[in-house]
Amino acid sequence: MKAHLPLGIFDSGVGGLTVAREVHRQLPCESIVYLGDTARVPYGNKSREAVRRYALEDARFLSEQGVKLIVVACNTATAFALERLEEEMEVPVIGVIEPGVRAALEATQSGKIGIIGTYGTIGSRAYQDALARHNGDIEIIARPTPLLVPLVEENWLDHDVTRSVLAEYLEPILSQGADTLVLACTHYPLLLPLLEREYGDRIRLIDSASTCAAMVGEMLEAHDGKNPSSATSRIRLCLTDDPGQSRDLIERFLGDRASKPELVKVEKD
Ligand code: DGL
Repeated sequence: MKAHLPLGIFDSGVGGLTVAREVHRQLPCESIVYLGDTARVPYGNKSREAVRRYALEDARFLSEQGVKLIVVACNTATAFALERLEEEMEVPVIGVIEPGVRAALEATQSGKIGIIGTYGTIGSRAYQDALARHNGDIEIIARPTPLLVPLVEENWLDHDVTRSVLAEYLEPILSQGADTLVLACTHYPLLLPLLEREYGDRIRLIDSASTCAAMVGEMLEAHDGKNPSSATSRIRLCLTDDPGQSRDLIERFLGDRASKPELVKVEKD
């Protein structure tokens, strides 16, 4: 692996910046090219075929930028396309599911794990299958929670409506005795302060952004791929459409860690 090259990270939109922010925090000397497919977001309610095609185009774009590793910072794209990307790309590809699964298995004591994510992620059974592969005795309570992404995008991070939507979604998970909850969507880490406050004493919250960033660090170590520079890098932000309302989210995720968004095209004519 060529250590001086940047890392590539992509998501359906700007939610994956929770992962980019964490990678940047844990590995500040790594340059990052972030691609947000803002023209085609959301992926969470699209078909497997569509998400796979989009993910391949996103990864190929990053490959063309000369990245040394690709992080699929989108749960839906990881669920539907990770295997295909691993086959197709010449550089290592890391998804967000395996790190979240590992952290959940370490955290649970009751052996009952809740998972919340988009329709695509939950319907794909990717988390459920990965958990079962590691430990067949784990009981899984998985629920699609589609209203949470728009609530986060609206910045309703500490709002009564968000509180009551969470209560509705989490009630069956808590009442069935889960002691660990996987936040299986890029947007959900922004709800962590609210979730910690309301549910932190009853359930361990697993945020795949930090576990995924740790896995990127391990992978770089294993391939002798850590950037030897000691200067803090910035994030190059590439988007497939004007971010519109998401400008605020970008600001909240990154502050001044990123360059001005660049408009790019990932679809081949
Ligand atoms: N990035 C997606 C995920 O983590 C959430 C937003 C979307 O539906 O595209 O599943």
